[in-house]
Amino acid sequence: MSGGLTRFGISIDSGLLEQFDGMIDRKGYTNRSEAIRDLIRDNLVREQWDHGDEDAVGTITLVYGHDIPDLADRLNDLQHDHFREIVSTLHIHLDPHNCMEVLVLRGKASSIKSIADRLISTRGVKHGTFSATTEGSALS
Ligand code: NI
Repeated sequence: MSGGLTRFGISIDSGLLEQFDGMIDRKGYTNRSEAIRDLIRDNLVREQWDHGDEDAVGTITLVYGHDIPDLADRLNDLQHDHFREIVSTLHIHLDPHNCMEVLVLRGKASSIKSIADRLISTRGVKHGTFSATTEGSALS
């Protein structure tokens, strides 16, 4: 997917450019080009996720109560049902009563999203986030 470097010009409203420059400065970009490349890559990954049958990777973060009866077992059972997609898990005991789990998933985008929805919506999960990303091979 890589090729030579191409330069192109963009016409943009000066107010919008000012806002963009402020944002990329706050985020730590050293130039507009890298910020624009990241925006393009992000949109390409989003499009990949919109086509649910594509191969993808993602992470799920769950925070839940350690003291809730059967909750850890229910989450564990769900994860075993999807052992092919869940390639790694990290469990952190946040304090005596709270746990955090970070899961790395790989598979069809639609399957990963569905597993994320099921885990995050499990009763007793206090907070869950899902981050969709890419295997990277389709991006320059
Ligand atoms: Ni724990």
